[in-house]
Amino acid sequence: MSADDLKKQAAARALELVRPGMRLGLGTGSTAKHFVDLLGARVAQGLEVLCVATSEVTQAQAEALAIPMSTLDETPELDLTVDGADELDRELRLIKGGGAALLREKIVATASRRMVVIADDSKLVETLGRYPLPIEVVPFGLEVTRRAVAAAIAASGAAGELTLRTRPDGSTLVTDGGHYILDAHLGRIEKPEALGTALNLIPGVVEHGLFLGIAACAILASSNGLVVLGTIE
Ligand code: A5P
Repeated sequence: MSADDLKKQAAARALELVRPGMRLGLGTGSTAKHFVDLLGARVAQGLEVLCVATSEVTQAQAEALAIPMSTLDETPELDLTVDGADELDRELRLIKGGGAALLREKIVATASRRMVVIADDSKLVETLGRYPLPIEVVPFGLEVTRRAVAAAIAASGAAGELTLRTRPDGSTLVTDGGHYILDAHLGRIEKPEALGTALNLIPGVVEHGLFLGIAACAILASSNGLVVLGTIE
């Protein structure tokens, strides 16, 4: 079974958590895209939900499927957010932001009563950090912020290169919020909470991709079936 088939299986299980009338946060990425496609099919059959997207890409996908959309200003409390992850551990700590949507993803997830992660089981790691940690920063004073981020990483006991994320054409990637992303190639993050707290204190850091204490459940699809971490309902 391909990784894409597994992602679709995890998305299909998450769809079973959706009840009529729910206010949903819609994630970003290839796994969340499956969830939105499946949700769109249910909406076409008459399911009533109201959704908030975590990116312009997901917003466009949902609108094309005629899924009723809202904003967090109109709908500041959501029942459930379903989103992918770049990496997670057994304590449901996540790295997100590979698709550059981490800021809106974290705002939407924390506005939700529950966040459920959907992924194929290759995303599960013993120690976070194999996937580069995305750190969203403001363009102003980039070098100052980069140095402060490097110092925070060192103080947390981690080490590794920081790279400014670019697009395939070599230009600097700009997020939906107009920011840049520094990717921290750390290999291992032994103290995610300490690193997350230190990054939050840097003025030029808008947000980072460590989602700690946010996800309630992860649905992981493997060739042997689905594995659920945390409480599914
Ligand atoms: C988007 O910014 C990310 O946080 C995605 O949720 C994450 O990259 C997972 O994407 P895939 O489902 O495509 O692996």
